[in-house]
Amino acid sequence: KKAFKVIAIDGGAASGKSSTSKRLAEELNLLHVDTGAHYRAVAYACQQAGIAPTDAISLKHFLSQLVLRSHVVGRESYISFNDQPPPGPELLRSENINRCVSPYAALPVVRETVKAYQRGQVDIAKRSGFDGIVMDGRDIGTVILPEAEVKVFLVADTSTREKRRVHEGGVDAIADRDKTDSSRSVAPLRPAEDAVVIDNSDLSLEEVVDKILQIIRA
Ligand code: CDP
Ligand code: CDP
Ligand code: CDP
Repeated sequence: KKAFKVIAIDGGAASGKSSTSKRLAEELNLLHVDTGAHYRAVAYACQQAGIAPTDAISLKHFLSQLVLRSHVVGRESYISFNDQPPPGPELLRSENINRCVSPYAALPVVRETVKAYQRGQVDIAKRSGFDGIVMDGRDIGTVILPEAEVKVFLVADTSTREKRRVHEGGVDAIADRDKTDSSRSVAPLRPAEDAVVIDNSDLSLEEVVDKILQIIRA
């Protein structure tokens, strides 16, 4: 029986984490978990309930009652909350959520809630018969899966990343989000000591995926 693979992909906004991870999941039969969607879903749930990131007491109470569930479709794990259907990109990737997600994600109470959910994804991947898990985010190699055997930290020039996002449509101040994510005291955006840093400014998705497959096979 093959060993269960655990792969962590981290990086800043629009650095290519999600598309790279999806391709790896296809190549190696892994469950793909996009942890940015978890923070986006929690930010959306809080907004829907009218709870601002500054409202510590209400937030703590709300999060203690928030029920997070996973739905595995193909090789993707989708998050839902409080028995609502999993929110789609029109809700999670809206301009409003782009703007407010980082302030929620900087709060320890939010990170604790999400961390428990994320660690549970490894068991879900095993029970669902995958050969491993690939999780992408900001703190996967440092905090969520420090035992991952392969850790990759993707970087790309800000101008390249901005162009990629504009190409996708939508408004997203990625440099501001990176600043908030890198400067927070809990689980800031940074490469793990044992991460391989890949600058993909001038690399195609294929080239990045091939590089990572070589690292995994080595
Ligand atoms: O897709 P994009 O790179 O723009 O962002 P995302 O991965 O969907 O993450 C949205 C936000 O969630 C980030 O800007 C962080 O504030 C937060 N996040 C985090 O704090 N830790 C993670 N592991 C993943 C996301
Ligand atoms: O998940 P994250 O926000 O880090 O990035 P993404 O959504 O995977 O990628 C952002 C955009 O960059 C997408 O439109 C990708 O197709 C593109 N991309 C690229 O042009 N070259 C790469 N090596 C990786 C991603
Ligand atoms: O689902 P698709 O890849 O077409 O695009 P998306 O809705 O923009 O979602 C991007 C990724 O975020 C998905 O592939 C999932 O990994 C994750 N996601 C999630 O975990 N939970 C949701 N409710 C929505 C998306």
